[in-house]
Amino acid sequence: MLDDGLLIAPSLLACDFAHVGEQINAVIAGGAEVLHVDIMDGHFVPNLSMGPGFVRSIRAVTDCPLDVHIMVSDPLYYAERFAEAGADSITFHVEATDKPREIIDLLHARGLGAGISVKPATPADAITGIINAVDLVLVMTVEPGYGGQKFMEDQLPKICRIRSMLGDGRRLQVDGGINPATAGRCAKAGADVFVAGANIFGSDDISEAIAALRNAAVKEQGTRIPKSAIRNPQYEI
Ligand code: DX5
Ligand code: ZN
Repeated sequence: MLDDGLLIAPSLLACDFAHVGEQINAVIAGGAEVLHVDIMDGHFVPNLSMGPGFVRSIRAVTDCPLDVHIMVSDPLYYAERFAEAGADSITFHVEATDKPREIIDLLHARGLGAGISVKPATPADAITGIINAVDLVLVMTVEPGYGGQKFMEDQLPKICRIRSMLGDGRRLQVDGGINPATAGRCAKAGADVFVAGANIFGSDDISEAIAALRNAAVKEQGTRIPKSAIRNPQYEI
């Protein structure tokens, strides 16, 4: 991890699947610290993506941390499948389960990081009971299901609020419509892990795209909204 503590996590959903290995090498060479893998089951979200076999294959060719985001209706079952496949951390959706604690315990018992995610319409309060048990919170900044969507500005207050709930030691990830401009606004609100698909893999120069994201986030991180302001009603969700 670099000194600024920010992590850039390219979403492989947007990569060229005919050349996954080369695309992974390109983002790592460009300075990405984490690989984000989006799992969709066609039920929790209206789209299908990869399964455990994909994670197993890329695990074999890279030591880079694999951050697996499971957008599935049965996260307890799939958390175990993706842990077996070689994920380093798994983020599941609070909307998909009434057993979040069981999933977090399963992941921790296997030595994986555990993340909880909230969809745009889900308030920060939905994770109050479990936030202290997780290693990361993922605030979706688009409706999950597809890459290449427009960033939802109305998620910024929730990012502020969740940063204040998390304190400083743990990760706050943003995912969806992230580009240098939106990454800067998210960093200002308290995010420190930036998932980006279209912006990185759609670029002619992957290294340059990653550097631009990092520079924008670093610049705004210094202007993070102070805790006292977070209690201001305009930042409440
Ligand atoms: C959306 C996925 C995201 C998405 C991000 O359901 O969780 O990871 O692929 O893609 P971009 O950066 O293209 O919005
Ligand atoms: Zn994702």
